Amino acid sequence: MSVLKHDEIKRNEQLGASELTVQLGERSYPIWIGSGLLNRIGEAFALLNISNSSPLLIITDSHVAPRYLNTAVEALREAGYRVFEHVIPAGESSKSLGVFEECVTAALQAGLDRKSTIIALGGGVVGDLAGFVAATYMRGVRFIQVPTTILAHDSSVGGKVAVNHPLAKNIIGAFYQPEAVLYDTATLATLPDREVRAGLAEMLKHGLIWDAEFAYWCKDNAAQLVAGNEAALSYGLYKGCAVKAEVVSRDERENDLRAILNLGHTIGHALEAVGGYNELLHGEAIAIGMVGSARIGERLGTATDVAATTKAMFEALGLPTTIPSHYDTDAILAAMMHDKKFSEGRTMFVVPTSIGQVDIRKDVPIELVRDIVEQLKREAG
Ligand code: NAD
Ligand code: GLY
Repeated sequence: MSVLKHDEIKRNEQLGASELTVQLGERSYPIWIGSGLLNRIGEAFALLNISNSSPLLIITDSHVAPRYLNTAVEALREAGYRVFEHVIPAGESSKSLGVFEECVTAALQAGLDRKSTIIALGGGVVGDLAGFVAATYMRGVRFIQVPTTILAHDSSVGGKVAVNHPLAKNIIGAFYQPEAVLYDTATLATLPDREVRAGLAEMLKHGLIWDAEFAYWCKDNAAQLVAGNEAALSYGLYKGCAVKAEVVSRDERENDLRAILNLGHTIGHALEAVGGYNELLHGEAIAIGMVGSARIGERLGTATDVAATTKAMFEALGLPTTIPSHYDTDAILAAMMHDKKFSEGRTMFVVPTSIGQVDIRKDVPIELVRDIVEQLKREAG
């Protein structure tokens, strides 16, 4: 690992974890990252002053539950909490109003009250859904994120919570910050390889929008990251979370700066939609989208020489960089129009100005986007 700088990593000695803070005044919250933290969730809850007089509900999914639910439940019970659990089917289709209602039913049956806490144990699907339940149950209860995927270093930080509508992703949601993010890096050992790579797309994104040195670090350490090396992942997650925390601290509600986190998402979300949300993983779709955005940047003249480097970085991480040739170009462009980033007749593109820096553009001609989409399809062969 070329640029590991442990001296810049802040520690929480009580939990034996790295620590970052999302600075939001009275709603500021910690991100704790460490191996084996799930066993210490009871201690973490005590640090957060979570009372044991009201029941807790853990929402998790059918892949995570058999691996990690018991550890979390036992650690919390040992610390004196009354714990209930609700397991949703794994996969994006659980981010639905139907599954949301089942979670609310589970919360009511468990007797959750206004002082209760909802815990999201899982990847971005569980985090987004459970966060939306926490935001709305009794008009808002306490919420803790316990991410178990690499991708969730992005989704667990920043308070965007949502479920999908059949016509549009993340369209029913809220800004609702967790009170802490407790990231046990040991849980990443059981992630399927494809999910590892997909999560690394968001990690590299954080370098591409903010920190060129970190972007090159991701490329240089791609082999360890892809192999799931825990030390490499811990460092990468810390750096990725640091970028996310900084951006969210400066612009919580996406009035301006936070939009840079959408690098690659204008094309990426459209590709996910055209694939019916079950062909390309989110990380894969945005990796392709980031290559597309770099090419758009070059064509607009905002940047030179970024597209080939961006493509090489994603290839090093084993991610796709071309659009499946059977995807219909008109369908991709139409899907962009349904996205939240489409307003006042125009769609928003985040485009690089160099590796580590981006600009937000609302003046990208649709014919240029069409051109780049066609080019990325041709390259898929
Ligand atoms: P996911 O939650 O579906 O997890 C991916 C797969 O890995 C699932 O099958 C899951 O069951 C399994 N899994 C999770 N942890 C595991 C573990 N430790 N071991 C074995 N299997 C495990 O998907 P994701 O990639 O984590 O998140 C994608 C979602 O996040 C999308 O819905 C996306 O829209 C959302 N997202 C939200 C934000 C935000 O800011 N809120 C940001 C980025 C992405
Ligand atoms: N993933 C985009 C955001 O959190 O704003």
